[in-house]
Amino acid sequence: VIDIRKLYAQTGKFTYDPGFLSTASCQSSITYIDGDKGELLYRGYPIEQLAVNCDFLETCYLLLNGELPNASEKAEFVGRVNKHTMVNEQMQFFLRGFRRDAHPMAVLTGLVGGMSAFYHDTTDITNPQHREIAAIRLIAKMPTLVAMAYKYSVGQPYIYPKNELSYTANFMRMMFGTPCEDYQPDDVLVRAMDRIFILHADHEQNASTSTVRLCGSSGTNPYAAIAAGVACLWGPAHGGANEACLNMLADIQQMGGVAKIGEFITKVKDKNSSVKLMGFGHRVYKNYDPRAKLMRETCHEVLGALGLENDPMFKLAMALEKIALEDEYFVARKLYPNVDFYSGIVQRAIGIPVSLFTAIFALARTVGWIAQLNEMISDPEYKIGRPRQLFTGAASRDVKPLAER
Ligand code: ACO
Repeated sequence: VIDIRKLYAQTGKFTYDPGFLSTASCQSSITYIDGDKGELLYRGYPIEQLAVNCDFLETCYLLLNGELPNASEKAEFVGRVNKHTMVNEQMQFFLRGFRRDAHPMAVLTGLVGGMSAFYHDTTDITNPQHREIAAIRLIAKMPTLVAMAYKYSVGQPYIYPKNELSYTANFMRMMFGTPCEDYQPDDVLVRAMDRIFILHADHEQNASTSTVRLCGSSGTNPYAAIAAGVACLWGPAHGGANEACLNMLADIQQMGGVAKIGEFITKVKDKNSSVKLMGFGHRVYKNYDPRAKLMRETCHEVLGALGLENDPMFKLAMALEKIALEDEYFVARKLYPNVDFYSGIVQRAIGIPVSLFTAIFALARTVGWIAQLNEMISDPEYKIGRPRQLFTGAASRDVKPLAER
């Protein structure tokens, strides 16, 4: 690793690295990825162990504090989160200003950004207490906001949180419950959703996390920085890939299903086409994404529990994965399925509409964004993020009066 800051101080030279392929923007002790081995650790713990032994709020505690909670620390943390699950009643009117058919990510970007107006007592990002309360508020309210955005889109009344339920069961009840009929969340489905949250909780310096850090580095408030992360996550190359992946599977299904995979892969490989195999490839993983393995397992469990083992979309996904993994194009480029390849199928089976997938990713990633923001602000060396550029425009020239141009 070259500390380019020293070189810059001595020589004024800087590097040119579009897409940050080889530039570390920060030091971090939160998440470790070994892309060649397909390894992912949160604070040193393998994702495979966390996914089996912990729930999402324990994972949140770990990401925020560096250690897993013991029983009393967990109870205290859960209690604090539960105190903040309701949102300011005025937010309903704010939500009502949106079109009912707006994309949930458009709505969520607005709602999270709007939190700085509703919770303006905790907007000083340099104040650790403000950051702490903002963190709890964001983690606690995201499920409520995502469920409200969903209920609004389908014209159903909002369901208020019920804090005796777990974080994830509470979210599912707010999504699927109605005032006429209380929703009893199925344990397998709750566990699957909780696993989706754990697997998406952090992923070091990806595009949305880097956006949150850059946005927060100006000293803006925590809600605004997280809203910037939500906006970035929306893109199909990032969090929007789960939605794009399911739409892609639906397109192949319409083309004729498994029999048409070859034709589709030919299109993907064509240099003149912009078609990508969504849910495949990763900037860092050049091996199987460990989250995809866990998600594939969850997919089996959920479809089994729902009696959907023969779900044509799942069969298609498995056949597509097999063909792609044997294809020379994908092998040569080390393109493997990423977490989004299977998470969409799981969410669809649970009953989550496709357009809400990325909002659920945002809900889960909120804790990672906050942990990264806290780490950045607490670093004594932290500076406002300000990339350099290689200027390629016109050299200095004189402005001619309008009549002479
Ligand atoms: N389908 C087909 N070809 C691909 C794919 C894909 N999904 N991904 C990469 N490639 C090809 C590229 O065309 C390129 O080929 P070339 O060398 O012949 O030009 C080569 O593989 C390298 O790809 P890059 O674009 O350089 O890889 P990069 O690291 O910039 O992109 C990314 C990573 C954005 C994730 C990309 O693989 C992609 O767009 N995948 C599909 C979208 C997706 O699933 N995103 C989710 C990411 S995970 C997450 O956010 C949770």
